[in-house]
Amino acid sequence: MMNTETVPQPIYLRDYTPPPFSVESLKLHFALDESATEVSARMQLQATGTAQPLRLNGQKLELLALRIDGNEVGEDEYTVDEESLTLHRPPERFELEVVTRIDPSANTALEGLYTSSGNFCTQCEAEGFRKITYYPDRPDVMTIFTTTIVADKAKYPVLLSNGNQVEQGELDGGKHFVTWHDPHPKPCYLFALVAGDLACIDDSFTTMSGREVKLQLFVQHGNEDKTAHAMASLKKAMAWDEQTFGREYDLDIYMIVAVDDFNMGAMENKGLNIFNSRFVLAKQETATDTDFYGIESVIAHEYFHNWSGNRVTCRDWFQLSLKEGFTVFRDQQFSADMNSPAVQRIDDVTMLRTHQFAEDAGPMAHPVRPDSYVEINNFYTLTVYEKGAELIRMLHTLLGAKCFRKGSDLYFERHDGQAVTCEDFVQAMADANDYDLTSFLNWYRQAGTPHVEVRREYHAGNRALTLHMRQHTPPTPGQPEKQPMPIPVKTALLDEHGTALPLRLEGESDASGTERILLLGQPEQSFTFTDVSPGTVPSLLRNFSAPVKLKTDYSDEELAFLMGHDNDPFNRREAGQQLALRVLLNQYASAQKGENGGVHAGLSAAFARNLTDPSLDQALIAEAISLPAESYVAEFIDKVDPQLLHKVHLGIRSELAQEHRAVLQKIYDKCDSSGPYRVDAASMGRRRLRNQCLNYLMLLDDDAVVEQCLAQYHEADNMTDGLAAMSALTHTGHEAATAVLEDFYHRWKDDNLVLDKWFAIQASSPFEATYETVAALVEHADFHIRNPNRVRSLIGAFGMRNPVAFHRVDGKGYTFLASFIMELDQLNPQVAARLLTPLTQWHRYDLSRQEKMRGELERILGSGKCSKDVYEVVSKSLD
Ligand code: TRP
Ligand code: ZN
Repeated sequence: MMNTETVPQPIYLRDYTPPPFSVESLKLHFALDESATEVSARMQLQATGTAQPLRLNGQKLELLALRIDGNEVGEDEYTVDEESLTLHRPPERFELEVVTRIDPSANTALEGLYTSSGNFCTQCEAEGFRKITYYPDRPDVMTIFTTTIVADKAKYPVLLSNGNQVEQGELDGGKHFVTWHDPHPKPCYLFALVAGDLACIDDSFTTMSGREVKLQLFVQHGNEDKTAHAMASLKKAMAWDEQTFGREYDLDIYMIVAVDDFNMGAMENKGLNIFNSRFVLAKQETATDTDFYGIESVIAHEYFHNWSGNRVTCRDWFQLSLKEGFTVFRDQQFSADMNSPAVQRIDDVTMLRTHQFAEDAGPMAHPVRPDSYVEINNFYTLTVYEKGAELIRMLHTLLGAKCFRKGSDLYFERHDGQAVTCEDFVQAMADANDYDLTSFLNWYRQAGTPHVEVRREYHAGNRALTLHMRQHTPPTPGQPEKQPMPIPVKTALLDEHGTALPLRLEGESDASGTERILLLGQPEQSFTFTDVSPGTVPSLLRNFSAPVKLKTDYSDEELAFLMGHDNDPFNRREAGQQLALRVLLNQYASAQKGENGGVHAGLSAAFARNLTDPSLDQALIAEAISLPAESYVAEFIDKVDPQLLHKVHLGIRSELAQEHRAVLQKIYDKCDSSGPYRVDAASMGRRRLRNQCLNYLMLLDDDAVVEQCLAQYHEADNMTDGLAAMSALTHTGHEAATAVLEDFYHRWKDDNLVLDKWFAIQASSPFEATYETVAALVEHADFHIRNPNRVRSLIGAFGMRNPVAFHRVDGKGYTFLASFIMELDQLNPQVAARLLTPLTQWHRYDLSRQEKMRGELERILGSGKCSKDVYEVVSKSLD
């Protein structure tokens, strides 16, 4: 915690210097105790250059002993402060032994060593290792770890760390010990330790070179029946990485531990992943399709880090996207291959556009590779992860799958065992393919979402179609001027049947291919196709080939045509979204003037066509009939009134439901869930479509539909359908919701992950009165401020998924959130800072709301006891 006199200082990328000492090996010894764990760290240090002091990071540590080559270090030889220990004149080469005492039971920040449900676990990324012992806590210091854990045998029968188990034995006083050795040098952020009484699920995987790897999943006793999906996902991910990237696993054992208290999704510690239990535990009764999907992707993500992150790691934390962007890209490709590529792409882009675009347009906007930060934990962002993945995807698009693979092979071979930069990655891609990617680095350096505008010009005389393209990136904090970026605009030309035509650009002798990447590298550029018949419609930015905001000159009729005919599934759905967006924006403008726009015939016809389109599978129909999210629509409105927007959005949905109720009901009936429950793409698509139809039908306020919804709730044999019914009842404000919520609570109150859903559904209910509900739920016996999942399910959902209640004109939503954040900040700064996101978006709202939101941000800052995490976000938001 800081007071107002000590304003936290930023760290700059330009100040990077290599470490003054390398660590040749590290021996850790833990004597575990809930409130007084003793840690001994013995490291072999070697100066890398001329004599320099050695500064080790350390926080909240009680120093018990400090020895150089076995001798106590004299008091005048070192200094200790809140953040570090400095040896003034260390030898060039020596062994340092540091003994510290820490209190895991008091660790509410969940960084370093802490306890969760009576077990010990660690979280060291990004800078948690410094809460365990004094050490050069930076990713470019890599060493070989040997870890011995001593603990009470009855309470902690399972003792785990990275690598292979090399020794174990009994000790006096009912204790035992285990020693682990990790042969792969690693930075300390990949260190992990787990101790507890856990159930173990065993399996194995045979790698492509025929080695057998032992797979182990550790969960709390009683959860063994919820591990099958995670284990199956792990095996699929291992096989996929061999086939797709040629990457084989490199230890004899791979362990995953599920814990209930975790700040993020999961952590890729070498050979010992630690997971938020929500990304491990699932069975049909307790987990939704979205949960199953999330587990498959997070399990894969952490596994893929073994190469993209662990074998090749980051030089410094500015390079975070080196591992995260690449690994997200890898997990997206994996999920696409395991399920439906089109649905995967649509969902990934929706996430990017609704959340990352907002981040890029707000006060926390930063490049994929930031050039400064105050608290690195604040930079595990959608920009670093999702936009970072889009950069990798653009390289994949530009080079093609085969050449991309050549590039990744070179990257892994060239940098194995190293800590490197984003340039190193791009350079490997360039070198492997003899392709100049110099200007591509602008994508890493510049914040903000580029706007691309395409205008068409057709010359009937010489049958030429010219696409005039322009790019422009608006200024972001600290970056008033922007350079043009290379933007791949994947393009096809469609005839009146939707057939993609062979393409011939001006100057080419023959037509070839039906899809081209037009590389927009200048502020303005034109591309002319020849031999183009009149009426040909271009399909632009296919499969969302670049993370930009695209403005086109399509008529409503052309959008309708693309919606029915584009052979790119992403663009097909996108055309419908564009049409719906137009209607929503028009109706919003009318509503502001007190007018009612009425039903839009074109949108209604499109909706009908999508519902029954035989060429779309069920998941794609569900996507096609959903309107763009309110938060996405809000991006296009200056000073939005969120309640009015909700009213307009709801109005259009209700009208569509009214007009198409017969078809919606027919599809609902046809998609019934009888038959065995499955989690394959087809079954998930069927449930998605059915529940989407239910959502529309529930807007009719018709007793028969309510009966059907109640029946679905009571008869469902799986959480997806049960929860969808409960959500539909709650979110339409139906009185029957009360009894259902009550029933659900009593059925599931002992299952934390399910109870999170109960909190979240109530918190996201789109009524102003939800504010009172949430304020009351904070006092509920099952609300635990120390559990991040519970906090996110109630407070996070309220702030980020409930514009109607959160943005109440009386400002109560803002005050409530700010007060909660101040309380949580004293316990868990990392999670507290994340909850600030909705308040940082104040510039998007009308003046009266702006003032109230800023007032709350000022109140937080004025308290004078913010963590670095909260301080950074609040102060940047007020700039
Ligand atoms: N490296 C993790 C991932 O993306 C992210 C992570 C897990 C993390 N726990 C964290 C980041 C705690 C910061 C702090 O897979
Ligand atoms: Zn990651």
